[in-house]
Amino acid sequence: MKEELLVQLAKSLLYEKALVKLDGKFVGAIASIPKNKNSQDLNYNEVFIRDNVPVMIYLLLEGKYEIVRHFLNTCLRLQSSQFQTRGIFPTSFAEIEGKLVADYGQRAIGRVCSVDASLWWVILAYIYVKKSGDRTWAATFEVQSGIQHLLNLILHPSFRDSPTLFVPDGAFMIDRALDVWGNPVEIQVLLYGALLSAVGLIQVDLEEKGYTDCQSSASALIDRQLYQKSYAIAWLKNLRSYMLKHYWVNSKIVQTLRRRPTEQYGDSVTNEYNIQTETIPHWLQEWLGDQGGYLIGNVRTGRPDFRFFTLGNCLGATFDLISPAQQRSLFHLMCQNQTALFAQMPLRICHPPLDNEDWRKKTGYDRKNLPWCYHNAGHWPCLFWFFVIATLRHKCHQSSVDHLGIDILLQDNYELLARRLPQQNWAEYFDGPNGVWVGQQARLYQTWTIVGFLLTHHFLKVNPEDTNIMDLPSLKDIENA
Ligand code: GLC
Repeated sequence: MKEELLVQLAKSLLYEKALVKLDGKFVGAIASIPKNKNSQDLNYNEVFIRDNVPVMIYLLLEGKYEIVRHFLNTCLRLQSSQFQTRGIFPTSFAEIEGKLVADYGQRAIGRVCSVDASLWWVILAYIYVKKSGDRTWAATFEVQSGIQHLLNLILHPSFRDSPTLFVPDGAFMIDRALDVWGNPVEIQVLLYGALLSAVGLIQVDLEEKGYTDCQSSASALIDRQLYQKSYAIAWLKNLRSYMLKHYWVNSKIVQTLRRRPTEQYGDSVTNEYNIQTETIPHWLQEWLGDQGGYLIGNVRTGRPDFRFFTLGNCLGATFDLISPAQQRSLFHLMCQNQTALFAQMPLRICHPPLDNEDWRKKTGYDRKNLPWCYHNAGHWPCLFWFFVIATLRHKCHQSSVDHLGIDILLQDNYELLARRLPQQNWAEYFDGPNGVWVGQQARLYQTWTIVGFLLTHHFLKVNPEDTNIMDLPSLKDIENA
């Protein structure tokens, strides 16, 4: 199909079929477009916060600010005020028989609350304010108290001394058991982005109220905001150095890890998490090569997870959690392992799959998550635009990464998507080591597949500089402000 027609088709699917209304106004998109209006497909007819991340970014690029604001306000309306869940945003919501109903995880398959949704809300709120210039919205009581409730949830004392967020299995895009409990990389990177965004939005409010840091404060609210802001900045610094120390690996680091002593006790130990050499898998040797680097999947006492998780790593680059040099190593690693990660359908969600005994024990014989399927190393076209944004943004800000062959990789994979997605009815995910087969239980006309393609087209063909839409306040600027 001709490029122009394809883009028109994708746009009409989004605007005419996927977007839904609440209170008479568009509010966001359902997860997948049903075959016919009356068909019910589990909860795919609900508005998921995470599935709407690409939708909202695309709508902002299209200047449709009102829809984005309505979406953000609706999520805010649904932010929990119950004692046990206070501050949490829902995984999804829908209008059922005239009533707005939200799912905080109580109805989901994994029965787990989507931690990523709460973190994404504040990131999207920041991006909305920056792009639209709507500082008045940022300075409303509702938005600022929403941020406070969210921060209260994160920045509180706990029984652990690390700055990471400890979550149950399946608390993000991978919303079923896949041994991703503890401190999965995607959640930590989103936490980093969420704290940067929260600080940015508090700052907007203080500026709107004419408050400067040297003034003595005027109200209890401002006192609280100042306290949270400085606490969040300290947390951010701590989180970043922790992640660079414990999650980032390259060949040299792995070799050091393998030779560390175990069973140490006290303040000046080198192996804080008592990691045994045997837990470090041999496939890492080839995977890393001599120039590759990435953030490992999870850090847990004695049980690190060396699997590569695509989204957490791409976002780690986009939010500048990893340095420009580390970003180059990451892109190098992804190019070097393109046969595994991109294959016939970019991108693989994680690598390698859990198999045999690991699959049986850790997923509980989950047939949707068989090796090479769905979350267990399946291929998700909705992930490709995150790679596009990470690499193009890096190119805009830093010296070129052309020598890695990124441009060719981007172009080839764009063409692959443009050819295969309409043929395969914009499927949700693809199975098998090459990503050739449409996922066994994949929904068709999945919204984030469609919009992921539109974003890829926009950044590659229309305006690469728009990748700055995902720029969050930098830690350096925040500290200096
Ligand atoms: C599946 C995915 C989840 C997504 C939902 C709706 O449950 O695992 O990440 O949000 O479908 O598309």
